[in-house]
Amino acid sequence: MFNKRKRIKEVLGSEITNHTITVMGWVRTFRNNQFIALNDGSTNANLQIVLTLGQFDDALLKRITTGAALKISGEIVSSLGKGQKIELKADSVEVLGDSDAEKFPLQPKKHSLEFLREIAHLRFRTNTFGSVFRIRHSLAFAIHQFFHDKGFVYLHSPIITASDAEGAGEMFHVTAMDLENPEKNEDGTINYKEDFFGKPTNLTVSGQLEAELAAMSLGDVYTFGPTFRAENSNTARHLAEFWMIEPEMAFSDLEDDMNIAEEFIKYIIKYALDHNRDDLDFLAARLVEEEKQKPQQERSEMGLIEKLEFVINNDFERLTYTEAIEILKASTLNKKKKFQYLIDQWGVDLQSEHERYLVEKHFKKPVILINYPKEIKSFYMRQNDDGKTVAAMDILAPGIGEIVGGSQREERLDVLEKRMKEMKIPADELYWYLDTRKFGTAPHAGFGLGFERLILFVTGMTNIRDVIPFPRFPKNAEF
Ligand code: 4AD
Ligand code: MG
Repeated sequence: MFNKRKRIKEVLGSEITNHTITVMGWVRTFRNNQFIALNDGSTNANLQIVLTLGQFDDALLKRITTGAALKISGEIVSSLGKGQKIELKADSVEVLGDSDAEKFPLQPKKHSLEFLREIAHLRFRTNTFGSVFRIRHSLAFAIHQFFHDKGFVYLHSPIITASDAEGAGEMFHVTAMDLENPEKNEDGTINYKEDFFGKPTNLTVSGQLEAELAAMSLGDVYTFGPTFRAENSNTARHLAEFWMIEPEMAFSDLEDDMNIAEEFIKYIIKYALDHNRDDLDFLAARLVEEEKQKPQQERSEMGLIEKLEFVINNDFERLTYTEAIEILKASTLNKKKKFQYLIDQWGVDLQSEHERYLVEKHFKKPVILINYPKEIKSFYMRQNDDGKTVAAMDILAPGIGEIVGGSQREERLDVLEKRMKEMKIPADELYWYLDTRKFGTAPHAGFGLGFERLILFVTGMTNIRDVIPFPRFPKNAEF
């Protein structure tokens, strides 16, 4: 019987003494043949297990090593030692799984995140990753809660598609063909008619187009699933496989879109503060230590908790792309040519250095930029009356840069078709998308939030590879 086990979080939370329980977990440390620090993943706090000297034979004691899995029954008693209120006085100890202390890669000391990334199959056993993944779970739960409470329908958009939602061409092909010997046409090109789906397919880059179809009937929907981008970006903010939340709302415009996105981000952060305080406190302390390695001027002005509270208590700054360009142009960084990409004219795409300048140096809070030039945005965004810009919005967060990308969608069939032609988006393949504009079209809007970037923001972690269990990035698909 394994389900009789009590979780350590529950045990430490109750403080009721003099009753017998069973716990199971992994040894973090074992001191003086007497004190085991046991962790079961329910919290970073370990339960102290006390072995009475002489009660257990040497052969068993030798097997209590860092990393070993144990089942322990005994009595919860008040602790005499410092550091804990209660401890478990062991009556029986069973080794469920040995761990060779010489070979176990996680020693009871601090390991670098880079090293832990190489042993991602074991890094769950550290406090940092325990906290990160408990928070990741909690945020996923909060996302469903938020939309469910608002009457949204959770839509499962397909993982395999034949369309490129963003029109950016950064896709992983999906095929069942023998790559060594694919079916060919007479002219030597690949004959996809013979492939599994009878046409070229890829892993989805976004569930948006499908979400739009559903929103045109169900009203408010959201997707929350993995998306894939074959962009060769080796940065601390890009993954080849990342999770995205994409709400899509019928009868909504850009302002509604911004309002719900801001409310959503604040809700999620507050949820974490209310439900994951111990893990956040741990990560806040970790961040303070990490920041000590940095030069003074690069350290954040606020601690993690303070930053999260600041974000929920202040309005995001809203401004147009055009206003942002003016600010950037006038900045000393631009004038002294300190930006890698100088801002010389209206129309240029903003790089992460510019986004971070606006958020971290200029406004010192999250920023929503709207009305971008149509040339640097996707075909489906609604064109503004100026003929130059589209009703797009990006939310930029301190330390992260772009966290949300969204827009009001082009609901006017003629305008959409014209734009697709200009951008060489194949209208015949997207007939189903255009159909929604033919039969009861309606103003609608939506956005995509990168789940891992949100987790980075909430946890204060700095590399996106450390907030997803098994990161996929160029030249890496280990585990
Ligand atoms: O700005 P993006 O490309 O927008 C879309 O995909 C739209 N279809 C969303 C919509 O309107 N429904 O991506 C949205 C967000 C970005 O703001 C970023 O947070 C995240 O997805 N993102 C990535 N996260 C990790 N790794 C990558 N390679 C990412 N690319 C985008
Ligand atoms: Mg974007």
